[in-house]
Amino acid sequence: MDNNIDKIMLCFFFIFGFLSKSVLSEIHANTPPRGWNSYDSFCWTISEEEFLHNAHLISEKLHAHGYEYAVVDYLWYRKLVPGAYVDSLGFDVIDEWGRVIPDPGRWPSSKGGKGFSEVAKKVHDMGLKFGFHVMRGISTQAVNANTPILDVTTGKAYVESGKVWHAKDIGIKERACGWMKNGFMSVDTSLGAGRAFLRSLYHQYADWGVDFLKHDCVFGDDFEPEEIKVVSGVLKGLNRPIVYSLSPGTSATPAMAKQIAPFVNMYRVTGDDWDNWGDVAAHFDVSRNFATSGMIGNNGLLGNSWPDLDMLPLGWLTDPGVNVGPHRNSSLTLDEQKTQMTLWSMARSPLMFGGDMRNLDDMTYKLITNPTILEINAFSSNNKEFPYITGTTHQSLEQDLKFQTRNLKEVGESEKLVLGISSCHDPEAKGWFLQTDDTNAEQVCWRWGAKSKKLEPFCLYKSEPTLQSDEDVNHNEKYQGKLHLHARNREGFCFDTSSKRRLTSKEHKRASFLPCRPDANQMWELSYNGTLVNSYSGSCASIKAMKATSPGGVRSWIATGKKGEVYLAYFNMNPARTVISTTVSNLSKAFPNINFGSCSCKEVWSGKDYGSLRHSLSASVDSHGCALFILTC
Ligand SMILES: *[C@@H]1O[C@H](CO)[C@@H](O)[C@H](O)[C@H]1NC(C)=O
Ligand SMILES: *[C@@H]1O[C@H](CO)[C@@H](O)[C@H](O)[C@H]1NC(C)=O
Ligand SMILES: *[C@@H]1O[C@H](CO)[C@@H](O)[C@H](O)[C@H]1NC(C)=O
Repeated sequence: MDNNIDKIMLCFFFIFGFLSKSVLSEIHANTPPRGWNSYDSFCWTISEEEFLHNAHLISEKLHAHGYEYAVVDYLWYRKLVPGAYVDSLGFDVIDEWGRVIPDPGRWPSSKGGKGFSEVAKKVHDMGLKFGFHVMRGISTQAVNANTPILDVTTGKAYVESGKVWHAKDIGIKERACGWMKNGFMSVDTSLGAGRAFLRSLYHQYADWGVDFLKHDCVFGDDFEPEEIKVVSGVLKGLNRPIVYSLSPGTSATPAMAKQIAPFVNMYRVTGDDWDNWGDVAAHFDVSRNFATSGMIGNNGLLGNSWPDLDMLPLGWLTDPGVNVGPHRNSSLTLDEQKTQMTLWSMARSPLMFGGDMRNLDDMTYKLITNPTILEINAFSSNNKEFPYITGTTHQSLEQDLKFQTRNLKEVGESEKLVLGISSCHDPEAKGWFLQTDDTNAEQVCWRWGAKSKKLEPFCLYKSEPTLQSDEDVNHNEKYQGKLHLHARNREGFCFDTSSKRRLTSKEHKRASFLPCRPDANQMWELSYNGTLVNSYSGSCASIKAMKATSPGGVRSWIATGKKGEVYLAYFNMNPARTVISTTVSNLSKAFPNINFGSCSCKEVWSGKDYGSLRHSLSASVDSHGCALFILTC
């Protein structure tokens, strides 16, 4: 009897083992998804040829390192013509059912109703997987056209209660996408027609052959849990595994993520990440919080889900929200880039490279294919921040503050003056006046309040328009009388509102200086009441004292590897070289079961052998840089 039960149990285990193995091999996103996304290098302007060229290079250079998704970011349905930009209305190509379809001007293979199917096929033939970006709900253009809704089960217009349903019945104008108000709005998912519309979108995407969908304006500040759940249900019902990714993650919290993580495969936990130190630094607290809440590699749609720290803006890039493709190098220092790669791997974020593959330099290539970084990213466990470290810095913060305040002067130790954007109704925005300097150049200057009277005036200089093409001439006529402003000693870089950017660093209102171009974002008008009004956003420039935002200090992360090795990363957030240390007894607090008394120790980025660990482990780390140790104990 006992014997029989044993046999049955054995048999059961055998079958069960088999089953779980075959299920496991199909687990979706069982490691953080890895690939390439077009946004950081092309913004929205990418063409079919450029995309396929990039995909081809991914298959040649990055696929062997696990980068498998080639993803087209937003607005592939928008015509790239004068007047079209991120939040313009009326330039999108939609079908008879109100669904956006690729712009045939940029995506010639889509002609004749083929959508992305030819592109997907080519990407699949390269051995890669194909993805693209979609927005929340329905486009304003479809609502204005009041297109009928397709019922995918009948192939005809959706009818319920004897009524043919249309876009105006389901679009919710009050719930327009926060960062693209003119473009898209939510649909009413409590209506059968609302759900039918979403179904008609995702069935079409699957028919085209998509493997990865980045669904934007549904998470963080733009949270739409019901739409996420409906879309997840549709994806689950399709017989194609599609990685389901959410964006953006501005103000996202673990509590918010817990509501939707089981329905998706990855979700952003910050606003957009760009190539400045503030953005990299802003990821430390948030990734710690998601690690502490146990969200890394939690359950997800047909597999796992991953907090996503956003794309890697490394290599050859463009600028946020613009109409031009790649034209500049990443402005992060090499140390900052290593810090980004190290944090993204220790926190097991999806790795989506953002640089133009056609201009991939060797340094960037080595950085994003570092085998230890990729091993930690895919296979480490127990990933968390490690608080038991000390940092000793010998230099002052002066240099960094000078850098951060650019050409503005510092008012106090923990405060700095920041040129930024605020509401035109804000009485504090009324500080601007026009004057001419000794050389008769026109300037717009800021009148300091009583508190900062001793400061020399801060002035912006009027830029002369650069006339290049007919298009520029048209724009210049359009902006006649408007001011195009640059900072002292920085001709060629104009004062720009960064309103199209979803900010990651808490430097919310900070303005930027971008290459001068005839664009409404760079056009300003001085009002009689002393406000300086931007032509694009209608918001106003002002200078305010803000708390220093770069956190400073030292951070550390720890994780264990597949073979029991321990990974320890030190990060120096300070503006000066810092010695970072911990002790064997403090390491034991993180992993009590490991005997740290007899480990060998190697640093990954320098390749330096630190010998065997005795009482403590110290490293001198450059400003904004990191050290990454492998401890084999
Ligand atoms: C961009 O960076 C690469 C690699 O460091 C360098 O070779 C190239 O000259 C840089 N290009 C520009 C325009 O700065
Ligand atoms: C180790 O941890 C203790 C607190 O538990 C702390 O006081 C000490 O400074 C730490 N040592 C180092 C080198 O970080
Ligand atoms: C300044 O004037 C503009 C109109 O020219 C107005 O919209 C704005 O609210 C005014 N701001 C203040 C602070 O008075």
